[in-house]
Amino acid sequence: MYAAWTVKHKPKSLSEVVGNKDAIQKLVNWVKSWERGIPKKRAVFIYGPPGIGKTVSVEALANDYKMELVEKNASDYRTEDAVKRFAGLASQYGSLFGGKRIVLLDELDGLTGTADRGGVRAITEVVKNAQCPIVLIANDAYNPRLSTLRNYCLLIEFKKPSASDVMKHLKRICIREGIEAEEKALKFIAQRSEGDVRSAVNDLQALAQGRKRLTYEDVSWLGYRDRQESIFNVLRMIIYGRTCIGAKRAVDMADVDMDMLFEWIYENVPAHLNDPHDLAKAMDALSMADVYRGRIRATQDWSFIRYVIDFMTAGVAMARQNSKTSGWIPFKFPQRIKMLSRSKAERGMQLRIGFKIKRKCHISANRAAKEVLPYLRIIFRNNVEMAAGIAKWLELDEDMIEYLAGNKKNAEAIKEM
Ligand SMILES: Nc1ncnc2c1ncn2[C@@H]1O[C@H](COP(=O)(O)OP(=O)(O)O)[C@@H](O)[C@H]1O
Ligand SMILES: [Mg+2]
Repeated sequence: MYAAWTVKHKPKSLSEVVGNKDAIQKLVNWVKSWERGIPKKRAVFIYGPPGIGKTVSVEALANDYKMELVEKNASDYRTEDAVKRFAGLASQYGSLFGGKRIVLLDELDGLTGTADRGGVRAITEVVKNAQCPIVLIANDAYNPRLSTLRNYCLLIEFKKPSASDVMKHLKRICIREGIEAEEKALKFIAQRSEGDVRSAVNDLQALAQGRKRLTYEDVSWLGYRDRQESIFNVLRMIIYGRTCIGAKRAVDMADVDMDMLFEWIYENVPAHLNDPHDLAKAMDALSMADVYRGRIRATQDWSFIRYVIDFMTAGVAMARQNSKTSGWIPFKFPQRIKMLSRSKAERGMQLRIGFKIKRKCHISANRAAKEVLPYLRIIFRNNVEMAAGIAKWLELDEDMIEYLAGNKKNAEAIKEM
């Protein structure tokens, strides 16, 4: 069965949380200060963008210091009554069994309606009288609604971890999963995530799960454009959509173009519709969408686009009738696009080597790529000494040598010569 790597590889100890060292230290010091009596601020307010380890830091801290963590989400404290129901928990530091308690109110941003106002007021009262550490978490600490509450809290800002911090976490996951990943590949995923560790981990899983190796080539085709968190939501709305309108609306949310979205849906439908009849219907809808895509291409008449959209969204959504939702299935990146871009990248490389050959041998680069290059490949794979000589003569760069040698080990040997 599949498990989300964000859960499977969630840090259990603060030592595994990457980034925000100072903020975490501040949090630890404050929790420790409770040992010397109730501090002036009985709550901390952690704030910062999503996916960077706010929640997980509090969980890891409770684990490291053997504290009992009482975790609540916005739905648990919307109204005054709801808050009162668990307020008692905050009136005791030590629990019956000698451990200490910490109360976490997560995702405070979730409180929006006027009905929630009572909840915020009640939380403020709980904080004022708390007998155990209380942690509040929100993305935005400066929401006016929280201004009074904020006065009673020690504010701690969490910032986006650097790309190299994100990489550290990705590396650890690769080691645990037995994946040999190129530094460059992980760096690319980390940079693309822009500090959002959760989405970086999701990216890594979608790309690397079930593989032994992950190369830069495997990931580079992703481009910076579509952050997958959003495309995953879009796919969910389409493949698990209950209404035509809902599924169609997903298109507006997608920041990928129509062809790319088609590939995403096409790639993922088979794994998510496990009833053969449903799948047949969905594929039928996709084939219709593809027919209209072809008409657009042939006629440049873009009014057909509405049929493409209807078939590939509503058509797919309505196909689900008997499929069971069985556990969590990860979304996969469209392999077709990957193959296309790989062969494009490969042709580019062949042509560049062709130009190098052209300069020495006075034949066209195209012809060199077609006729000479295959022999070079055989030489580079089998005769290090000869390959080194040729590489020097043709003035090949490192990437070219690696391409011809087929792997890093051969390439290293040639470069050393
Ligand atoms: N700084 C981090 N170090 C290690 N893993 C992280 C970090 N931030 C996020 N993660 C991963 O992403 C998941 C979601 O993180 P979470 O703490 O819930 O983010 P948020 O800041 O939105 O509360 C975690 O379960 C963990 O797998
Ligand atoms: Mg969180």
